[in-house]
Amino acid sequence: MTDPVPTGPGRVRQNTVYRAGVLGRRPAVPTDPVGLEQAAAARMSPRARAYVVGGAGTGATMDANRQALDRWKIVPRMLRGAGERDLSVSLLGKRLPTPLLLAPVGAAELVHPRADLAIAEAAAETGVPYILSNQGSVPMETTAAAMEGTPHWFQLYWSTDEDLVDSLLARAEATGAEAVVVTVDTTMLGWRPQDLNLGSLPFARGEGIAQYTSDRRFTALVRERLAAAKAAGIRPDVEVTLGAIRTLISISRRYPGRVWQNLRSPEPRAAVETFLDVYSRPTLSWDDLATLRERTRLPVLVKGIMHPDDARRALDLGLDGIVVSNHGGRQVDGALGAADALATIAPVVDGKAAVILDSGIRSGSDVFKSLALGADAVTIGRPHLYGLALAGRAGVAQVLADIIAEFDLTLGLAGAAAAQDLGAEALTRI
Ligand code: FNR
Ligand code: LAC
Repeated sequence: MTDPVPTGPGRVRQNTVYRAGVLGRRPAVPTDPVGLEQAAAARMSPRARAYVVGGAGTGATMDANRQALDRWKIVPRMLRGAGERDLSVSLLGKRLPTPLLLAPVGAAELVHPRADLAIAEAAAETGVPYILSNQGSVPMETTAAAMEGTPHWFQLYWSTDEDLVDSLLARAEATGAEAVVVTVDTTMLGWRPQDLNLGSLPFARGEGIAQYTSDRRFTALVRERLAAAKAAGIRPDVEVTLGAIRTLISISRRYPGRVWQNLRSPEPRAAVETFLDVYSRPTLSWDDLATLRERTRLPVLVKGIMHPDDARRALDLGLDGIVVSNHGGRQVDGALGAADALATIAPVVDGKAAVILDSGIRSGSDVFKSLALGADAVTIGRPHLYGLALAGRAGVAQVLADIIAEFDLTLGLAGAAAAQDLGAEALTRI
């Protein structure tokens, strides 16, 4: 018997690339994580590079994320490979075709004008669920409409305005989001020298605040702010510099409505100020999280958990899932690698809630290790933004397809038939 048809996404993808190569065509974006990051970084503006590639402090947490994964080694088993691997996993009671989800990322417009929309289209193309960011560049209603049946979730930043929290939750439900992910590790932005050195905060230029400017409660807050300033006789006191003019144009281009009207209106600038006021609450507590059960009917996951006791708190609240994450090393410099945290958290959760590993996942081999360490799924963060920067929608789709392909081949070559059966016996630690 011969086996002329490649089976599984790994061999199909290799076949596609090598056949195109015969015709002199190369993949749209590099297929290796290091080449991908280098090529994307070279393509980005300095501000985009600082925000996307950069992290907190010296970048030690980003290194730790890689080291934590690298210290685990796969122990391949021979002569028991399955002809076709089952990549599917069960998450929140649903079957996903692969263990991948797209991490929520804000201000994607820094690297590509179609931003969240291009990512949503690539998600739909590959069947990888997309967690829409609270700091999205496109209103969630528009992004959700591009998902074509592939699931989307919504990531919430807990605003200081409780009505805004409710409004965002209601909108997420209305778009058909299947879960809410509350990010708890970014109640303040971390110390990010690359951004600081450029004096660059995307939100201050109106980038990544589309979920706010499209929100009725938020717009009401902006109008209240303007009315209060008017009543107090306060006029905005802005120093007119070239930078200030550029910022004003940037904000006006992004604010809903016509650019030339926005340029004359105080509203877009007041929206940015309002955003900076309401963005997030440093005093957010477990008690706040407990209120979510009455505020949404959606499953709730908490993102940013790094300690088993915090995982226990989440289980005590009856939350549906835990995203083990240090925010890609963007918050606390010198923190524990996320995969090391996973190794202590997965046994505590022990199947009582979903566990997702986020931070540092770059390849199919990383996906294999994450599942073997007890994660039910993983999120892909920076790599998909790198694909977006280099080739828009097609670049995101290729990055996802490549990671899935390598995961499929790794399963087969390591002697595993199904993603969901992976366990600690597949790994050893050096
Ligand atoms: C993020 N991340 C993030 N997380 C979140 O909950 N809400 C958000 O709006 C954002 N925004 C954001 C922007 C950019 C440019 C990056 C790179 C990251 C964090 C993201 O969801 C995820 O935790 C990290 O990207 C994981 O680290 P790696 O794998 O990308 O290194
Ligand atoms: C960041 C926030 C938006 O990491 O999550 O930049």
